[in-house]
Amino acid sequence: MRTYIINGGNKLEGIVKISGSKNSALPILASTILCGREYIIKNVPDIDDVKMMLEILILLGCSAYYEGGSCYINTKNLNTCDISDKLSKKLRSSIIFLGPMLGRNKVAKITYPGGCDIGSRPIDLHLYGLKELGVDVTEEGEFILCSSHNTKSNDISLRYPSVGATENLMLFALSVEGRTRIYNSAKEPEILDLQRFLVKCGYCVEGAGTDTITVFGSKNMAKNISYDEPVEYSIISDRIEAGTFMALAASTKSKICIKNVDKRYLSGIIKLYREAGCLIDDVEDYIYMINNDRIRAMDKISSRPYPGFPTDMQAQLMASLCRAEGTSYIEENVFENRFKHVSELNKMGANIVIKDNLAIINGVSKLHGENIDVRDLRGGAALVLAALSAEGRTVANNIEHIDRGYEKFANKLWNLGADIAEK
Ligand code: UD1
Repeated sequence: MRTYIINGGNKLEGIVKISGSKNSALPILASTILCGREYIIKNVPDIDDVKMMLEILILLGCSAYYEGGSCYINTKNLNTCDISDKLSKKLRSSIIFLGPMLGRNKVAKITYPGGCDIGSRPIDLHLYGLKELGVDVTEEGEFILCSSHNTKSNDISLRYPSVGATENLMLFALSVEGRTRIYNSAKEPEILDLQRFLVKCGYCVEGAGTDTITVFGSKNMAKNISYDEPVEYSIISDRIEAGTFMALAASTKSKICIKNVDKRYLSGIIKLYREAGCLIDDVEDYIYMINNDRIRAMDKISSRPYPGFPTDMQAQLMASLCRAEGTSYIEENVFENRFKHVSELNKMGANIVIKDNLAIINGVSKLHGENIDVRDLRGGAALVLAALSAEGRTVANNIEHIDRGYEKFANKLWNLGADIAEK
């Protein structure tokens, strides 16, 4: 178990550079197995989830390494269709290997994926869509065996715009002859990034960013593509990491210049913090945020699929509202178990009441340091923000969760003047 020791109360000031997007990097890394060739994926965040994806690629027989912010991958020697190794249990995104594996090898063996414990996280939509495209799915104990020898293009309607299911189906449909449409697809910017990558690879897919994605697949997809040069692609910056540093400025009454951001995907969060009283200058690729006082409470914020408020920012927003003037409300609609940070925030002096999926955050004038447990990635980041805004010393345990999705989090905070050390 690793721990952060945080002495809160410092006003922070300086520049922080946002890394590449975790949620773009993971499906793009999985999609490299669709076709055996070389790839150079740039602006990849140095985080544990990426390391695990590269380990899975190596277990599959590919070569894959990370150097200087880029992943160098060669998937020509893929030699197994078994992605049921114990690594898959650790990482939810291992499920995204299923579509490309079936596209390339026609068979795949997987286990139910792991990842953050923030809800039941089923994969029924992934399997439903694959079956609609002719995949045979058999469950054998903890394994799922899939084969795709008799595929057919189709129109698929998702009952919910699942990010992972949309990605898996886009990737698999590339190997299915003809036109497949995915209705009610997720519209997240990371799906658009995946589409841009696929188009750069030579595949034919359009509509990402809208609720209908159209894939023009081909049984010979791999043969239609030129292999001469490695595919080079640079991943978009991480909107959730940028939002986390905005929540930090709001929590700690600080002046932070957040660089390398894509503001198109942050307009909702910028608006919320402006309305709460923060000064925000957003020019070119940076956001300069100044907060001198307690922020104002927010009316009900509801997490929803994109373009709604992101569930991945819910915990960090809540941390910044703990010391707001007045009462704020946050409704979590995407995952059913995503309030695990609340008991720890309350230990630090926050006054948050949970009623079903609604958190009622009664602003308090101060928080105090405590011994707290990190239980998931975004909740962990939120607890660190709260600890930095609290009086006194916080010991935050199990910070491994944070390393899954934030690159050099403590270093970035330290460079802004935070008193944070790892033990
Ligand atoms: C992705 C993101 C994660 C983010 C989430 C929602 C990545 C690597 N992770 O996760 O950071 O929090 O989107 O924006 O991109 N569901 C089903 N059946 C399914 C699939 C999902 O019922 O087959 C439900 C889930 O239980 C959940 C909701 O749909 O309640 C959203 O899940 P989904 O959009 O699939 O999230 P992930 O792709 O796992």
